[in-house]
Amino acid sequence: MRNRFQLESISAMLSLPMRNRPLSGLALAAVSIAACSAPSTPRSASPAPCATTPPRADWLDRSVSADERALRLIGALTQAEKLTVVTGYFGVQQEWNAYRFPEARPQSAGFVLGVPRVGLTAQWQCDAGSGVATQGVAPPELERTLLPSGILTASTWDPGLAERSGAMIGSEARASGFNVMLAGGVNLLREPGNGRNFEYGGEDPLLAGTMVGALVRGIQSNHIVATVKHFALNDQESGRRSVNVIIDEGAARLSDLLAFELAVERGEPGSVMCSYNAVNGAHACQNAWLLNDVLKRDWGFRGYVMADWGAQRDTVLDANHGLDQETGVSRAGEYQWLDKLAAAIHAGKVPAARLDDMVRRIVRTLIEKGAVDDAVRPSPIDFDAHAQVSQADAEGGIVLMKNEGVLPLAAAAKSIAVIGGHADRGVLTGGGSAQVYSPGGNAVPGLSPERWPGPVVYAPSSPLEALRAELPHATLGWNEGTDRAAAAALAARSEVAVVFVTQWTAESIDVPLTLPGEQDALVEAVARANRRTIVVLQTGGPVLMPWASRVSGIVEAWYPGSRGGRAIARVLSGAVNPSGHLPASFPKSLEQLPRSRTFGVGATPDVSFDVRYDEGAAVGYRWYDQRALEPLFPFGHGLSYTTFARDGLAARVEASELRVTFRVTNSGTRPGQDVAQIYVSPVAGGWESPKRLGAFAKLELAPGASREVSVTVEPRLLALWDAARHGFRIAAGQYRVTLASSARDPGQSVTLALAERLLPAGAGSASLPH
Ligand code: BGC
Repeated sequence: MRNRFQLESISAMLSLPMRNRPLSGLALAAVSIAACSAPSTPRSASPAPCATTPPRADWLDRSVSADERALRLIGALTQAEKLTVVTGYFGVQQEWNAYRFPEARPQSAGFVLGVPRVGLTAQWQCDAGSGVATQGVAPPELERTLLPSGILTASTWDPGLAERSGAMIGSEARASGFNVMLAGGVNLLREPGNGRNFEYGGEDPLLAGTMVGALVRGIQSNHIVATVKHFALNDQESGRRSVNVIIDEGAARLSDLLAFELAVERGEPGSVMCSYNAVNGAHACQNAWLLNDVLKRDWGFRGYVMADWGAQRDTVLDANHGLDQETGVSRAGEYQWLDKLAAAIHAGKVPAARLDDMVRRIVRTLIEKGAVDDAVRPSPIDFDAHAQVSQADAEGGIVLMKNEGVLPLAAAAKSIAVIGGHADRGVLTGGGSAQVYSPGGNAVPGLSPERWPGPVVYAPSSPLEALRAELPHATLGWNEGTDRAAAAALAARSEVAVVFVTQWTAESIDVPLTLPGEQDALVEAVARANRRTIVVLQTGGPVLMPWASRVSGIVEAWYPGSRGGRAIARVLSGAVNPSGHLPASFPKSLEQLPRSRTFGVGATPDVSFDVRYDEGAAVGYRWYDQRALEPLFPFGHGLSYTTFARDGLAARVEASELRVTFRVTNSGTRPGQDVAQIYVSPVAGGWESPKRLGAFAKLELAPGASREVSVTVEPRLLALWDAARHGFRIAAGQYRVTLASSARDPGQSVTLALAERLLPAGAGSASLPH
């Protein structure tokens, strides 16, 4: 059977769903590589023997620095052992995987052998950002707590909540025996149809970098390593291995790279995963500019760079251009390190010191993050407590987008029609390597695609049942939504109708922005029958809503996680006052986007094609602003059941930083949370677009209560990239500071003068020199 990468390429080439392709057998030699079997020189035909000298156990001495310990270990390792530490295998126990190490954890993403002779732990790697995933159709599934999708967590605008969520999934990774969690997806939402947008933090670098950084910090609080990915500009899945992204350096530094830079600074991830695509002509895992110059030199990144699964391509280029660990090796001979790297070192094409540097980075990270001294071992999980963490995340991030007095559902409502979206059984989850099976498994089995990047999985948390529990006095009628006339008839005889619509998205595919199937027609039919129609969306990213003006309420629930049904019901009933705000703009039509289609759909595998990001750093709201386009719903938008008043805006320079103060009052009658957004713009213009988000704060306020808030504007967001001076330069001049509730809210503004300031590349990094 072919592995998931081959399936992906074949289906891309033929533009057919993978499940339709006949699978011919591929002879795979099962090869076993033991810790010491890599030849130490290219000429030795037989594997090098394992070292027999006793290890320098002093590398385990906790009283010395991680750097010193790593150096001591390197001094004790043979070359074959070093090659072991930098080589990762596909971790799943599937027939096409030639490397079935007994020590690897079943269902996982990957595995790196340890060096037992010196007491160095193996590296057990699991996906991903919403919890401990089960690798593509590898039954029996691991059942683990499912967080809401990354884009929902970003919608909370609450880094503290993201950190708690990260701490929870990290603890499940540890308890499941994993010490490396491949979580921390921070690719910008540049292509609304990107099938992986659900894993990421939206379209704005400050919001995405802050939220993902917080998640990473939480994960690593469990003494394991988290991985920020996919570095970089991996903003579409179509042709992800062959697309070459073309972008100007300054634009990249102020958009996609800034999201990574902030996530790396704030989260201090142990590793960064380089992506499949090429950037300005060089594949990301062989891209010396991205890996050596930007990440390691400019940002002072101390951790290690791992390849996305199988993204290693060329022994010498990979090694010399900054890759530290190859991954996802699943077939004999299809690797770049091991004997091939030994040969390259022997031939003088890769310095031996580079191998030591790779090992140093990996081992030092494992020590610093705690994975060496606090070994992972499988242990019990408190699923009830963890479900509450997931629910709190969902309740903080579900976005109330439209409300014409129809929400919260009145306690007095007698009849409510609930329609569609399998709401009687569960909530949707995103597919691909990040697929987590919630306790209870898949509530709606058998939907296609059943194979990679499927299966389509619903977490067993029924919104319908939860609504019944929330609204015991109402009669809730159910219609599954396949018969529009019946659904409309139910809506017509109910006081209010709630229609659930879904869009499944997944790794390795991109999706149209139109809801699949007949869902738009279903909403239209129900809304015609009853104007008091509320649409609850479960989507991976923005979608088109041709019916938006004809319904009374719209709620974006993204993929809301293990307790998503309950969270949705509590937002609808008013038990929870919604406080999520959009981390991405919703277009009115495809014509509003920089690219109305995603390039590379059906591309021939391995035939490179270019995608030009001519919009540069004008991603999302910055693009709409630049073009004076009115989106359907703007970035930052989110309604509440209470109202907030904001006043007292003032801005001043304090110790070179731009400090902004203001007051927020809950002027309504319910407790609620406001998301105050600070946008900055040079009065004279000159940026890629009029304004950028410079700071934000989420505040909880009782009715009538006020709070004074003080935030600092991220200085890089006041600057342009100055290539000649290799840093971000804030131009002297007048700047406008706006306090608003979305990117389209005029809000209130003050202006002030800023002096010129140069922020050398990496100035924001708290990291020590690498
Ligand atoms: C994905 C990564 C994932 C890895 C391991 C790759 O295909 O792009 O996000 O971590 O597989 O499953």
